[in-house]
Amino acid sequence: MTRFVCNECGAVHKKWAGRCDACSAWNSIVEDTAAAPSGPKGKALDRKGGRPVELSDLSVADPPLPRSVSGIAELDRVLGGGLVPASATLVGGDPGIGKSTLLLQAAAAFARKGAGVVYVSGEEAAAQIRMRAQRLGLADAPVKLAAETNLRNILATLEAEKPRLAIIDSIQTMWADHVDSAPGSVSQVRAAAHELVTFAKRQGISVILVGHVTKEGQIAGPRVVEHMVDTVLYFEGERGHQFRILRAVKNRFGPADEIGVFEMTGEGLAEVSNPSELFLSERGQPASGSVVFAGIEGTRPLLCEIQALVAPSPLATPRRTVVGWDSGRLAMILAVLEARAGIAFGGMDVYLNVAGGLRVAEPAADLAVAAALMSARQDHALPAETVVFGEISLSGALRPVPQADARLREAAKLGFSRAVGPNGLKRAAQAPISLETLDDLGGFVESVFGPLD
Ligand code: TYD
Ligand code: MG
Repeated sequence: MTRFVCNECGAVHKKWAGRCDACSAWNSIVEDTAAAPSGPKGKALDRKGGRPVELSDLSVADPPLPRSVSGIAELDRVLGGGLVPASATLVGGDPGIGKSTLLLQAAAAFARKGAGVVYVSGEEAAAQIRMRAQRLGLADAPVKLAAETNLRNILATLEAEKPRLAIIDSIQTMWADHVDSAPGSVSQVRAAAHELVTFAKRQGISVILVGHVTKEGQIAGPRVVEHMVDTVLYFEGERGHQFRILRAVKNRFGPADEIGVFEMTGEGLAEVSNPSELFLSERGQPASGSVVFAGIEGTRPLLCEIQALVAPSPLATPRRTVVGWDSGRLAMILAVLEARAGIAFGGMDVYLNVAGGLRVAEPAADLAVAAALMSARQDHALPAETVVFGEISLSGALRPVPQADARLREAAKLGFSRAVGPNGLKRAAQAPISLETLDDLGGFVESVFGPLD
């Protein structure tokens, strides 16, 4: 039976369409000839042969998960405190972003700590990987390498070798010979991931699968296997920047939304243990449109610069361009500024950018965005030593945000002396920084920018 599958999300469709209803991706639907795994027809599963399983209480105390740490602190934290035995992790990212580099470094780090590590590459020859390891100064690490794409051979190898950790680079190159379609197709990627994950769980091996994010619909994307694994990490970054961010989007063993920050150097990826410093390092003199946001990424405070540019538009529909922040959220802030504080942006182009290639998703950045927009529009620079944070509601009220203390401490640590935020923040410890709190957007605008004409 012919069916059509979305390479982005794996949704099955009866007919081809230009756009997937499930994930809204364009041109991602391809024909998939593999027989759909439909069970025997007309037969219901009966209880014969089944046995009742033992049920347990919620209150039974289990020992904490015995995690292995790599010693690469940024990676261990994103994993939730180290790698869990018999777990499956997906590391997704654009081609060339540095996934293989990161995982080779991780493999070497785990191996040096005494764990058996097998690194299977379906993309590069063993000699190529050895060359990279040499360049990264990892050639002496006891990592076992294989260049192989046949899943049957890989499983047999892992069964014989019994490593603690197996890295599969990448899942899209793996090929299960019992599935009748080309490597990289949705059915192959799904089957290979399923085999590897169930094998790993049974044998107590941790597996890390690498998945390339695909722009074209030719190869199945990593989203197809997201639901099969315990942990999903995405490795992100802008090509032009040396920063790389490893972000946990799903983690059954730790907090999601945790990030690890790395810098791509000539000797591989270097950990960045104080990312705020890095993200603010390119900030020059106070300029209009630039505001420092005191944010939280995962469990860690992170300061970053929000930049706005507002200019008269020659277009009938002015431009709204956003990098690193949600464009719907920008539209909302512009509307609230207009409706609640009487500041119109009609007839003006608005550009918003989070500096350094960072992507901010916290609503707590609302106020910093509003401040950057106002600062750009009024051509009025905020004092250099000020940080801003707070959520804006549609009524124009400023809403308190969590972890105010952590934000303020980080700001104080980096030399900021003044913070502006919403009323009602829960503060315990006093960081050495003055905090000005306000009730609503109108009050904020007046307090920061003075009375407008
Ligand atoms: P790679 O890990 O091969 O990316 P992926 O596996 O995600 O496709 O990284 C490729 C890029 O990283 C390549 O453009 C070169 C760069 N790089 C460095 O800048 N420094 C290094 O030490 C290494 C190994 C790679
Ligand atoms: Mg690679």
